[in-house]
Amino acid sequence: MASPLKSLVFDDSRYQKSFKLFLERSTEHQCMQDFIHKLLPDILAGVGNGKSHLNVIGVGSGAGEIELEMLSGLRLKHPGVDGVDNEVVEPSAQQLHNYRVLVSQKPDLNHITFHWNKMTAAEFEEHWKVKTTCKKVDFIHMIQMLYYVKDPEATVSFFQSLLNTNGKLLIILVSGESGWGKLWQTYRDQLCNTEISQCVTTKDIKCFLDSKGMRYQSYELPSQMDITECFTEGDEKGELLLDFLTEVLNFSKTASPELKAGVMDLLRHSDCSVESDSKVMFNNNLEVIVLNQLT
Ligand SMILES: C[S@@+](CC[C@H](N)C(=O)[O-])C[C@H]1O[C@@H](n2cnc3c(N)ncnc32)[C@H](O)[C@@H]1O
Repeated sequence: MASPLKSLVFDDSRYQKSFKLFLERSTEHQCMQDFIHKLLPDILAGVGNGKSHLNVIGVGSGAGEIELEMLSGLRLKHPGVDGVDNEVVEPSAQQLHNYRVLVSQKPDLNHITFHWNKMTAAEFEEHWKVKTTCKKVDFIHMIQMLYYVKDPEATVSFFQSLLNTNGKLLIILVSGESGWGKLWQTYRDQLCNTEISQCVTTKDIKCFLDSKGMRYQSYELPSQMDITECFTEGDEKGELLLDFLTEVLNFSKTASPELKAGVMDLLRHSDCSVESDSKVMFNNNLEVIVLNQLT
C-alpha cells in the first residue's frame, strides 16, 4: 500500500536544509574524500586509454564538493589530459547555483567545460537519446542519488551502456549493513514512497548485478552520524535530521505515534547505533560499487 506520508524529496528547500545538516553531523563527505585520495586514483588509472580529452558525467551532483575533488583526482592521475567535458545532472536549482558558485571560486578548472543540466537522471537519459547516440563516456559517477529514481537498476544499466572502453561507472550508496539498511528492512513499507524507490542500498544493487552475472568491485566506507538531537522532543535540528533519516517531510508531526515510537526505538537500538559519551552515533557506512564497460 502506498505510504500516506509525504516524501521529503518533494520539498527541495527542506530537503537541502536537512541534507546540509546531515553533512555537518556525519562523516559522510570525509569518508568519501578519504576514498577519493586513497583508492580512486588506482580505479581511474586506465580511463581514457591515453586520450587527451575525457568525457565525464555526474548524476545527482549536488553542490559539487565531492565531484570537484574527483575531477582534481582525475587530473592528477592523468596530467596529459588537456580537456574534460563534464555533464552535471542535477534537478535542484539551488544545488546547481551552489555548484556554479563553487566553480567560480576555484582556480585550475580551465581545462573543464561544465555543461549544466537542470534535470533528473531520467530526463537526462531522454535528452541524451535525442541529442546524441554515439558519444562515449570515460567516467560516470552517481553518488548518493539512486534513492531518487523510479528504477535504480534501469538507471545503472543505461549509464553503464554509455561507458567507453576502460570507462568506469562509480556508484556510492549506503551499505546494506548500515543503520539505514536496518531501518529500511524494518520500515520499508511505511517509509518508502512507491513513486521513487528511496530505500535502496548497495545490497540491492549487488543482488541485481549478481543476478545478471555482472562483475564489479566494491569498497566499504566506514562512516557515522551523530543523531543525538533527534531524541530531544521538539528540537528543530533533531526534527530536520529525522526528516532526512526517514525521508519523510515533517516526520515527527505527521507519522502515527506507533510508527514514530518504533522508528525512534530502532534508531537507538544497537542494530543501528552505538551510544557513548551521551551521544547516539548512527551507523552511516557507505559502499562504493565500480562497474566497467558492458562486454
Ligand atoms: C544526497 S544528495 C547527494 C549530492 C552529492 N552527490 C553528494 O554526495 O554530496 C542527492 C542529490 O541528488 C539529486 N537528485 C534528486 N533526485 C534526482 C534525480 N531523479 N536524478 C538526479 N539527481 C537527483 C538531489 O537534488 C541531490 O542534489
